[in-house]
Amino acid sequence: MSKLFTIIQVGLGPMGRLIVTLLLKRRNIDVKGVVDTNPQLIDEKLSKFCDFEDELGLVIESNLEVLLSKEKVDVVVIATSSSLEKVVPLIKQAVNSGSSVISICEELSYPYQMYPKISEELDVLAKSNNVTVVGTGINPGYLMDLLPIVITAPCQNVKSIKITRMMNSAKRREPFQRKIGTGLTSEEFHQKISQKEITGHVGLTQSIQMIVAALGFQYDEIIEFPPKEIITEKEFITSYGETVPKGYVCGLQSKAIAKKGEKEIIMLDFVAYAGDHEEYDSIEIIGNPPIQQKISGGVHGDVGTAAMVANLIPIVIKAKAGLLTMKDLPVPCYTENIWKNSI
Ligand SMILES: NC(=O)c1ccc[n+]([C@@H]2O[C@H](COP(=O)([O-])OP(=O)(O)OC[C@H]3O[C@@H](n4cnc5c(N)ncnc54)[C@H](OP(=O)(O)O)[C@@H]3O)[C@@H](O)[C@H]2O)c1
Repeated sequence: MSKLFTIIQVGLGPMGRLIVTLLLKRRNIDVKGVVDTNPQLIDEKLSKFCDFEDELGLVIESNLEVLLSKEKVDVVVIATSSSLEKVVPLIKQAVNSGSSVISICEELSYPYQMYPKISEELDVLAKSNNVTVVGTGINPGYLMDLLPIVITAPCQNVKSIKITRMMNSAKRREPFQRKIGTGLTSEEFHQKISQKEITGHVGLTQSIQMIVAALGFQYDEIIEFPPKEIITEKEFITSYGETVPKGYVCGLQSKAIAKKGEKEIIMLDFVAYAGDHEEYDSIEIIGNPPIQQKISGGVHGDVGTAAMVANLIPIVIKAKAGLLTMKDLPVPCYTENIWKNSI
């Protein structure tokens, strides 16, 4: 008989809902419980918030530790925050109960430089419980780090890498549109970014750190520039019904580079704004052979992130124990047909 991977999902914002909806549809995955601390969600039926007939009648619980004391699972999926410090208590509860962790927390995608102590602690804890902890997602986690790393495989040498994401943010979930400043004035945008009321895009530095670690590149510094607002030339209505007048912010551009001397060896250019413009994800390798790869239309960030999580479940079960990053895992791919007893 085919054995299923068991999971608990923590965090049921727009991303968590997309993820759990996909997990419930997956034949090889058994969702054992869902957790969120938002008072408006606690004790409610999951089916009220998800676009899926939930035959299990799952009810949203408020405490992961309590749930784990009743239900042991293979993997705890965490979609609560971009901040590693906020996610650490949940990771520890999961690991201490013997579960692996997959989180879309951007800072977990490459945590060693920003949080060396926490990283060491999580690595030791994961190894002592023989489980794996990993941060994933579309970006960071795939398009601007893992994919460019893999694309260098047939290169005899690599001198520099330029990675660009160009997306129409109007197609993304509301919290994404808000965190990139949609609907603000320029002044509000800069104020909220500097006061950390909105984050902009999180993860460019982590993506560069993962690439330089994988390729063994020597560099002097990594610089992430302050995001620049993009102003709309015409009024539009957001997917959540707010009017953004002409002259207001409709998105942003964020750039990060790794430098060796005066040379930029890695360049990341992230552009997300509402508008009917070309969308793509591109990677340009300057080397031998030179490689240019362009995904026309781009990969939808929210859809892709949910799939990254679902597909990673069998991969993480196969992986070695410890705190890992996407570059350390067995080759990630579509895994709906992989069963627990076939690993
Ligand atoms: N790596 C990637 O590619 C990628 C892609 C997409 C999203 N993300 C990240 O994923 C995160 C989730 O996205 P989202 O848009 O769904 O965010 P969101 O709207 O902030 O939703 C997060 C949900 O988690 C709940 N929560 C917060 N702390 C919790 C805790 N300790 N225990 C249980 N529940 C908790 C929140 O409750 P409250 O509302 O009460 O706080 C909220 O319901 C964001 O940080 C986002 O930046 C990463």
